[in-house]
Amino acid sequence: MTGGCGACLVLLSKYDPVQDKVDDFTVSSCLTLLCSVNGCSITTAEGVGNSKDGFHPIQERFSGFHASQCGYCTPGMCVSLYSALINADKTDRTGLRPGFSKLTVSEAEKSIAGNLCRCTGYRPLVDACKSFAADVDMEDLGFNSFWKKGESEDIKLSRLPPYNCNNAIHVFPEFLKTVIKAGFKLESEGCRWYSPGSLEQLQSLLQTDEVNDGTSMKIVVGNTGMGYYKELGHHNKYIDLRYIPELSIISKDQTGIKIGASVTISKAIEALKDENEGGINQEGKLVFEKLADHMERVATGFIRNSASIGGNLIMAQRKHFPSDISTILLSVDTTVDILTGHRHETITLEEFLGRPPLVSNSVLLGIKIPCWKSRRDISSKTCTKLLYETYRAAPRPIGNALPYLNAAFLAEVSLCKKSAGIVLNNCRLAFGAYGTKHSIRARNVEEFLSAKLLNFGVIYEAIKLLESTIIPEKGTSSPAYRTSLAVGFLFEFLSPLMNSYTDISKLWFDGYNSDLLSNGSKIKQNCDQFNQIKSPTLLSSAKQVIQLNEDYHPVGEPLTKVGAIIQASGEAVYVDDIPSPRNCLHGAFIYSTEPLARVQGIKF
Ligand code: FES
Repeated sequence: MTGGCGACLVLLSKYDPVQDKVDDFTVSSCLTLLCSVNGCSITTAEGVGNSKDGFHPIQERFSGFHASQCGYCTPGMCVSLYSALINADKTDRTGLRPGFSKLTVSEAEKSIAGNLCRCTGYRPLVDACKSFAADVDMEDLGFNSFWKKGESEDIKLSRLPPYNCNNAIHVFPEFLKTVIKAGFKLESEGCRWYSPGSLEQLQSLLQTDEVNDGTSMKIVVGNTGMGYYKELGHHNKYIDLRYIPELSIISKDQTGIKIGASVTISKAIEALKDENEGGINQEGKLVFEKLADHMERVATGFIRNSASIGGNLIMAQRKHFPSDISTILLSVDTTVDILTGHRHETITLEEFLGRPPLVSNSVLLGIKIPCWKSRRDISSKTCTKLLYETYRAAPRPIGNALPYLNAAFLAEVSLCKKSAGIVLNNCRLAFGAYGTKHSIRARNVEEFLSAKLLNFGVIYEAIKLLESTIIPEKGTSSPAYRTSLAVGFLFEFLSPLMNSYTDISKLWFDGYNSDLLSNGSKIKQNCDQFNQIKSPTLLSSAKQVIQLNEDYHPVGEPLTKVGAIIQASGEAVYVDDIPSPRNCLHGAFIYSTEPLARVQGIKF
């Protein structure tokens, strides 16, 4: 499953000589093109720790918490946690607990989101990760071979393989820094790899005979699209867009945020969440945060570290990829910049998606997401409120799973004193990935709802209209389910505006009556309370109590599995690691009834 499971993760470290800064992040090695890691440092699971130089506490704790069964996923899990630890250690968080990292429990849990394990079960895996978190309650950690139930916190801590975040700083090789500072050139055999350093260079490259010689060519940033569009064989030419400054910009101001096409989804999330930049108003920040939260549910962390915003939109435009990003960006009136030859255009994302597939000499330069703000009409004394929410239904809530349908709704509402109701002034309703060519806006429903006083009758009519709009194309699986999802999401968005009318109107009118026009903080306070009504919480916790039966001793005892630690370090040797196809042990495959059964520890 190329790019899907996280078993082959490695830590990629990139040095930026201008800022003298190293970026450490995980990538799927199965998707990463060799030429693209030129000048980078790579740490594998064996590099984290191994039997020769000593195991890392991550590997020891994975083993002690029984977090490795067949071991297929374990090296990737360890690399994910390692990346989370070293990035947390770079922060200036204070109040450290001796023996713990700077990670929080929530970050530790999320560190392995997207790494798939088919046999161990996630509780021990998450326990091993959480054992590093500064705010962990040791009582919450499950069955392990380090301590017995009832032992004190101090004893538990003393039994855990020690972790000292001050000694754990990941070091980028000095010689590589020197090489990078001196400038280096990439030479490769068998294929041509181009890394244009400016738009002009890219444009002239795209027009050269060398590139247009009839052999296959691919424009890449992270090459993660290969995980979805399986490609056989390789291309003769690759053009890497990551070194073109215009495509890598991120800039934020009061009008919105500009994101270059080659910016990775992870970096875009960081920028959207960055509260300190750009002087963005409160409602604008809320929209950006929701966009970032939704993007965090797209693919996996290690894919988002390499996949670019532009690549995602280009796949949606050219190949009808069921993109989440195109739907959420469509709902907030995003514009895109395109360069075709020497013609530079700025068009709406809606127009971009609706055009015929982009020709090969056109380049998506970047996007601009406007900063949203509700109107407060002082003359008519009406207070409006901006509501924004995104939705996604997929086989898994987070982790690599394409959606059955996604949606994003932006609405400006106001209170109508006369009828004691809420008026939906205008709205943007975007839907995608339901078996359609690209994300769309349900314009007919938007127009119907515009300036309507919300009541059950209006919502019912809107839903009927939506049912006749969201119709999956022929051949799409579960079409009725997908349509019902669209209806359900719209209902979920609109119905609280009636159910909690009393609460909302009280909050708004109280704010309005007391001193709405002069007291901005009151408005903000009221709006924040409203947001709390809308925001769902995400909870991830479980407990398992295991009763041991002395009759069958030692069955059920928490004994560390022999070999678990070499599985964690990636050193375990399996039957399918056998290099020769003629190896006499092939019979092992014939007798196996499990398709992915492995035999561990065989020496050659
Ligand atoms: Fe995770 Fe088997 S796949 S241990």
